[in-house]
Amino acid sequence: MPRTIIVSNRLPVTVLKKNQTIEYKTSEGGLATGLGSVYKQGANRWIGWPGIYLEEESDQLQVAADLQADHMHPVFLTKTEIKEFYEGFSNETLWPTFHYFLQYTVYDQKMWETYRRVNQKFCNEVMKIAKPGDTIWIHDYQLLLLPQMLRENLPDSSIGFFQHIPFPSYEVFRLLPWREELLNGMLGADLLGFHTYDDARHFLSSVSRIVGFNNQQGLIDTGKRTVMVDAFPMGIDFDKYAEVAESEETLKREQTFRKAIHDQKIILSIDRLDYSKGIPQRLEAYESFLQKYPEFNEKVTLLMIVVPSRDQVGKYKELKEEVDELVGRINGTYGNMNWRPINYFYRSFPLESLSAFYRMADVGLVTPMRDGMNLVAKEYIASKTNQLGVLILSEMAGASRELSDAILINPNDQNQLVNALYEALTMPDEQQQFHMEQMQELVKRYNINHWVNLFMDRLSYIKIKQMAMATT
Ligand code: G6P
Repeated sequence: MPRTIIVSNRLPVTVLKKNQTIEYKTSEGGLATGLGSVYKQGANRWIGWPGIYLEEESDQLQVAADLQADHMHPVFLTKTEIKEFYEGFSNETLWPTFHYFLQYTVYDQKMWETYRRVNQKFCNEVMKIAKPGDTIWIHDYQLLLLPQMLRENLPDSSIGFFQHIPFPSYEVFRLLPWREELLNGMLGADLLGFHTYDDARHFLSSVSRIVGFNNQQGLIDTGKRTVMVDAFPMGIDFDKYAEVAESEETLKREQTFRKAIHDQKIILSIDRLDYSKGIPQRLEAYESFLQKYPEFNEKVTLLMIVVPSRDQVGKYKELKEEVDELVGRINGTYGNMNWRPINYFYRSFPLESLSAFYRMADVGLVTPMRDGMNLVAKEYIASKTNQLGVLILSEMAGASRELSDAILINPNDQNQLVNALYEALTMPDEQQQFHMEQMQELVKRYNINHWVNLFMDRLSYIKIKQMAMATT
């Protein structure tokens, strides 16, 4: 039976150690939530970091055994590796560059070397379990060198790579001192997937200008192999979100939450704490909305869920303080004994609570400065089983290419965002339903299974094409 081995930095479960006891929780972020429902099929496996530093061997053994029973294989990172590979090169070099936050980028040779070493560590772990005939599917910017490392060990295997974050334009990418090695690392794959055509186009342009390989309609001839590059906009498990939205537990939670919020209109935002998500800009626009439309005072609340993320990285710590301060200022200025303009939670919630929030929200407010796809936008749509609700979506999120029935905004344009909030909060029901229906059809059709099947079909196609080319 053919197997797929998924490899990503973060496993879909994160290990916690509390009072000497090992616990497991679902990981945050688009990659883990998106693929979580797929990897358990058949004999598939998932290799990745369990999100914690475990010093004791006995803990590592226990975690490895527990995860193995669930089709997962942990790659343990040392403290230095976490600092220099994960927090450092991945999240202080690649993340800011790929999201166009160049002023935040750290250029550090030591971090780069650790990045290369950890990619090699992942390669060694894959080699321990890979068998001939397996398909290897590598995910995201933390593992850009892994495709080529695996190619050297497994020259004929099927290797796919998918990038969940944007790929920047050549003018930005070329700022990285390690640009050529990074591209050569990626080119070890047979198929490279991105969320949007623009990301794919930017990648192709960097390959042509930095490595010197041109492409023909997304096919790159490296001299040894043909590599295919294409856009695969990621979907969600639509049915799961729609079902949970109707479940007894979700309805119970909705009732409880509604009691607390009374009959105020709800604007909902859910993000990991990240500067790419535009949280301060969103708060400032909301403040400006309250100023411009005082008739909404006491009638609306911004329910803002911020999920803690990468809290050892300096820029994330600073952002946390900025957000805390802004929320305090707005609530302090506009609120009163009966009304809190912002209900802010800095923590994660179980799916049923999120689902209740999605159900209750009159407006879904998704306004990243830059985002690969943004699956929260799609989860909001799938959870709106009564089709009432309006999505305000940033043009800078990959999802905006598909969800043209949302109110699309430029997150740098505060006036536009203020007007969008007004438009969303006053939109007649029929209009809401019309747009929601269009978006639901799309999110349902292009769901996570469609995405996986399309990627896998394309990977088989390119392997067959390579073989045909080798024999002619
Ligand atoms: C984004 C990235 C993922 C990452 C997730 C959570 O969705 O594309 O690769 O896993 O954020 O970030 P973390 O650093 O906690 O893994």
